[in-house]
Amino acid sequence: MTDEIIAQFPLLQKQQDGKRMVYLDSGATSQRPQAVLDAVSRFYKEDNANPHRGVYALGERATAAYESARDTVAEFLHAKREEVIFTRNATEALNLVAYSWGLHNLKAGDRVVVSILEHHSNLIPWQQVCRATGAELTFLYTDQRGVISDEEIEKKITKGVKLVAITHVSNVLGLVSPVQKVVDRAHAVNAVCVLDAAQSAPHLQLDVTKLGVDFLAFSGHKLYAPLGIGVLWGRKELLDDMPPFLTGGDMIESVREQDATWAELPQKFEAGTQNAGGAVGLAAAIHWMQGVGYDTIARRENDVYQYAWQVLSQLPHVTLYGTAQGQHCGAISFNVEDVHPHDVATILDADAVCVRAGHHCAQPLLHHLGLNSCCRASFAVYNTREDVDALAASLQKVRKWLGYGS
Ligand SMILES: Cc1ncc(COP(=O)(O)O)c(C=O)c1O
Repeated sequence: MTDEIIAQFPLLQKQQDGKRMVYLDSGATSQRPQAVLDAVSRFYKEDNANPHRGVYALGERATAAYESARDTVAEFLHAKREEVIFTRNATEALNLVAYSWGLHNLKAGDRVVVSILEHHSNLIPWQQVCRATGAELTFLYTDQRGVISDEEIEKKITKGVKLVAITHVSNVLGLVSPVQKVVDRAHAVNAVCVLDAAQSAPHLQLDVTKLGVDFLAFSGHKLYAPLGIGVLWGRKELLDDMPPFLTGGDMIESVREQDATWAELPQKFEAGTQNAGGAVGLAAAIHWMQGVGYDTIARRENDVYQYAWQVLSQLPHVTLYGTAQGQHCGAISFNVEDVHPHDVATILDADAVCVRAGHHCAQPLLHHLGLNSCCRASFAVYNTREDVDALAASLQKVRKWLGYGS
């Protein structure tokens, strides 16, 4: 039977050396449904001009398409439209907070707390800003399963902490972080809370009014949208007080020879020509996800995740990292005994099974878990139990391929 969701993804219909493509790297980037490809193509064929520039009808249409995409994102996050800033990706959004809020609000003696789970994008900007301001960077550590305890949150987020930056979902372990507890604790000590939603936005319904965080960042390309478009959401009162991150065209109110004043939100943070085609694609991706329905997304993804954990945990010589307990989104990491993860991924590729291998831009987490690298299978709504079976079958060949008896 044709799966109605898979059928909407042209790339997933392709074969590799006559084999069905088993794409298990959506944590790195997702594939795009036809609806998104069509929306982007339509924008470039019918509405393309530089948004916020031309007063001619075509320019107005480009502006309307771009700003309507902002409305869609605002509705998606349950946020006010002026609080939605388009960026290139989650990395740029997190750097914006670090360099604009961090550089101007942190000083020697302050503390910044991140978790050991962080992707480098939500770690290095804080390292840099702490170095520049003299603030101290401290970590919420996890146990071996990747779980942050209540005691750790209480112990580390104390008076003197000015900012807490945490990932919503670990890109390595797929585990959902205890965001509510972190936010409550951060606000109890008057710290600002930044949520890296890069790995949650494709899977969970996000509502900034319920999450209670102060900033939230995600990338479009992990949730079925084009590459090169991302979002920073921030509370208006914080964004209003922050200086621009990048400066140049379209982010100003007026410019004189020696100085300038800034445009209102969100333009203050959108310097230069923006990726309007990407924003249109992001809006289409959000509409597509809403059309599929979060219940369907959760049902399909949870089923595949649990099946994958069950099947992979029974394979000899395969070690899984993390825990099957707790709420998960889309990622399982593992190693095959005595085989380098790059060799595993290369051997799986011969069966058209695509998994990621390496440190997953989370080197401190891997060191904390006693690893140098591992493989990661990550899932999206188009993955099925059949994909897991293909992964398991291919994994069973790995050691034999390299000459081991079993
Ligand atoms: C948890 C997490 N945060 C941030 C990022 C950075 O995303 P991007 O490279 O799209 O900026 C990633 C990318 O994998 C991620 O998994």
